Amino acid sequence: MAKLSIRDVNLKGKRVFMRVDFNVPLDEAGNVTDDTRIRASLPTIRYALEHGARLILASHLGRPKGKPNPRMSLRPAATRLSELLGEPVKFAGDCVGPEAEQAAKALADGEVLLLENVRFHPEEEKNDPAFARRLGALADVYVMDAFGSAHRAHASTEAIAHLLQPAAAGFLMEKELEYLGKAVENPAHPYVAIVGGAKVSDKIELLKSFMKQADSVLVGGAMAYTFLKAQGHQVGNSKVEDDKLDLARELLQEAAQRKVAFQLPKDHVVAEKIDPAAKAEVVTAVDIPLGRVGADIGPATAAEFAKIIKSAKTIVWNGPMGVFEIPQFAEGTLAVAKAVAESGATSIVGGGDSVAAVAKAGVAAKISHISTGGGASLEFLSGMKLPGVEALTEEQKAVGKKQ
Ligand code: 3PG
Repeated sequence: MAKLSIRDVNLKGKRVFMRVDFNVPLDEAGNVTDDTRIRASLPTIRYALEHGARLILASHLGRPKGKPNPRMSLRPAATRLSELLGEPVKFAGDCVGPEAEQAAKALADGEVLLLENVRFHPEEEKNDPAFARRLGALADVYVMDAFGSAHRAHASTEAIAHLLQPAAAGFLMEKELEYLGKAVENPAHPYVAIVGGAKVSDKIELLKSFMKQADSVLVGGAMAYTFLKAQGHQVGNSKVEDDKLDLARELLQEAAQRKVAFQLPKDHVVAEKIDPAAKAEVVTAVDIPLGRVGADIGPATAAEFAKIIKSAKTIVWNGPMGVFEIPQFAEGTLAVAKAVAESGATSIVGGGDSVAAVAKAGVAAKISHISTGGGASLEFLSGMKLPGVEALTEEQKAVGKKQ
């Protein structure tokens, strides 16, 4: 069921509680070092302000464990947002209580206030109804634009949406749901899914979901060694989840039954150990000798993956092909990033590491959609419902009837 959009809500003169995901990295001096997530919500924020909303922004930052922690303050995000908007952004040193209440009340049409980190209160992560009521008391309507936090059933992402009506989706949320939703439900074929990262256990549901829709699943990263071992190959000293070998066999079997081309590396970049000073060697076979650790897909695998990627109409990529933070183990991941960028397909990249890889390869602008959600995109692509989406008001069918 489609969710109500911010476009459908009359914002003029209303106090709008907008949950954003400003969980951004800060340096020692407290400056925002990557403002991607703040920029991603700018269209929704600008729209609300242009339509006369009295805008109250809320977010978490980091995992402060329910206690105030100055190193996880959102104040630097207010500064950065103000620079990006070219307008003042007010800041309340707590997200509930007298300071927040007075600041919210004092807002004029078209003004914006950012509340302090909602996770400074333990009730936030408990999805506590009383805490949600205190947050909700600040405003008249709710807008959810924090796709990156929508997999969390927390007071500011879930409980509050049942209290403040209407509860509408912002533009970032809509864009994420549109791209990821199409990949899950109705992708253009050929559909190529690329999965990497350390553990099979983190990606079981994702792999199962890909197998329902994708024509090819390309597997790299350390998780590939678990699959190769499950097939009876030698993996040397590579990282393997020995307790997941049966599961890996089941997944391989499922791929065969569904006639999905499940591609594992056929050559490797290895080293004596994973270390920035380690010497990289190429192993031109599927088997990795003892004393060597797999660190990246090999050049033949990268070329084969690139060929498959270039034939795709839809590509979803989650997880790097190797230890790409170390230059001598980055080639496979960078080759995949370039192939995705050159494919001309609808391409979706999710998960912090693959997003970083795309940026490192200098091809971010050529990707159709880079998801702002790590865990959220993983869960959504795995076919799970996101509580922060489910709680939103369903779209009203009456055209032009603004709430
Ligand atoms: C993220 O960075 O993926 C989101 O902001 C969610 O953060 P969390 O994993 O701490 O809930």
